[in-house]
Amino acid sequence: MPAKTPVAFTLNGRPVAAFADPGGNLLDLLRRGLGDLSPKWGCGQGGCGACTVLLDGAPHLACVTLAETVEGRSVETTAGLARGPDLHPLQEAFIDGFAAQCGYCTPGMLMAAKALLDANPAPSRDEVVEAISGNLCRCTGYEPIVDAILAAAERVRGRAA
Ligand code: FES
Ligand code: FES
Repeated sequence: MPAKTPVAFTLNGRPVAAFADPGGNLLDLLRRGLGDLSPKWGCGQGGCGACTVLLDGAPHLACVTLAETVEGRSVETTAGLARGPDLHPLQEAFIDGFAAQCGYCTPGMLMAAKALLDANPAPSRDEVVEAISGNLCRCTGYEPIVDAILAAAERVRGRAA
């Protein structure tokens, strides 16, 4: 049996280490290896965005990312968005704007949106639509999600002012 590969990286600001299966993907390493169930398994083929995480701040699909490629890098998931009892502005806006129904797409949406707002806290509506264009939602029709991301951007700018 091929040997597993040790992988050490930062997960939501905390150093972690785990063993990756040969050819194993990051989604499996996070969920089964480290117990972070916030990134979701949807299609497993790079087509739905439910598994979106941030790698060094940029959105990536964990289901099609080789686990061993995150060695030494920063990985962010929805599990790291809140600061203690304080939700991230995106989480607050999604709740207030009823932007989640079944919620299965929500972690991926939040991470795609976080990457956008971290880089551009004043996005246009078109830029929001583009940022989440790889994330599928079967429930909401997308409009509440786009509205929530724009509302979160306002909150982010308000906190920074
Ligand atoms: S589970 Fe990764 S893109 Fe669908
Ligand atoms: S809220 Fe159900 S898939 Fe988006």
